[in-house]
Amino acid sequence: MALGLLWLGLVLLGTLQTQAQDSTPNLIPTPPLHRVPLQPDFQNELFQGKWYVLGLAGKEIHKEKHSQLKMYTITYELNEDNSYNVTFVLPWIQRCDHWITTFLPSFQPGQFNLGNIERYPGIQSYTAQVVATDYNQVALIFFKKAYKNQELFMVTLYGRTKELTHELKENFISFAKALGLTDDHIIFPIPNDECIYK
Ligand SMILES: *[C@@H]1O[C@H](CO)[C@@H](O)[C@H](O)[C@H]1NC(C)=O
Repeated sequence: MALGLLWLGLVLLGTLQTQAQDSTPNLIPTPPLHRVPLQPDFQNELFQGKWYVLGLAGKEIHKEKHSQLKMYTITYELNEDNSYNVTFVLPWIQRCDHWITTFLPSFQPGQFNLGNIERYPGIQSYTAQVVATDYNQVALIFFKKAYKNQELFMVTLYGRTKELTHELKENFISFAKALGLTDDHIIFPIPNDECIYK
C-alpha cells in the first residue's frame, strides 16, 4: 500500500521534474505546496508515535558535509486541538539532545505550520506536509521554509523501524530527484542505538 502511494506521488511530480530540469543545476526551484502530493484522507491519530528519520534530502543537505549524521527519532503526540507536540531526539557528542516543538494544523489535513515561529530567528514561515504514509511502516514528509527571504525545502523519509526495504528507499530517492535534487543532496543517517530508548 505504501509503495502504491509513494509511486502516485512520483507520477504527480512528473511536471515538477520537467520544470526542475529546465533550470540550472545550482538553482533548484522550491515547488509550491499545491504541486506537492498530499496524503489523501490524512489520519492524524494514526500518524502519532515514534518515527525514525531514515533519509533526508534537500537544498541544504550535502552528502559530504552531513556524512556523519546519526539516525534520530521524531515523536508526534496529538493534542486535543489537533496540533502535535513534536519531539526530536538527536545523538550528539556524548549526550542526547531533545528538541520539542509544536506543529499547528494548516489549511488541509496532513499540512502543518511550525508553532511559536517567533522563537526561531530568521524563519518567516515553516510548513510540513505529509506526502504519503501507511502509518505503520513508512512516511514521506515535505518541509518548506522561508528563511531570511530565501525559500528552502527538504524531504524526509520516516520509518517505524530502523530499516526499510530497498524499494522504499529507492522510491524516496526517486521522489527527491523528481524535485530536482541530485545524489549529492540525499543522505541516509547512520543507524545507531544512542538515544533511542522510547
Ligand atoms: C504537549 O505539550 C504541552 C506543553 O508542554 C503539554 O501541556 C501537553 O500535555 C502535551 N500534550 C501531549 C499530548 O503530550
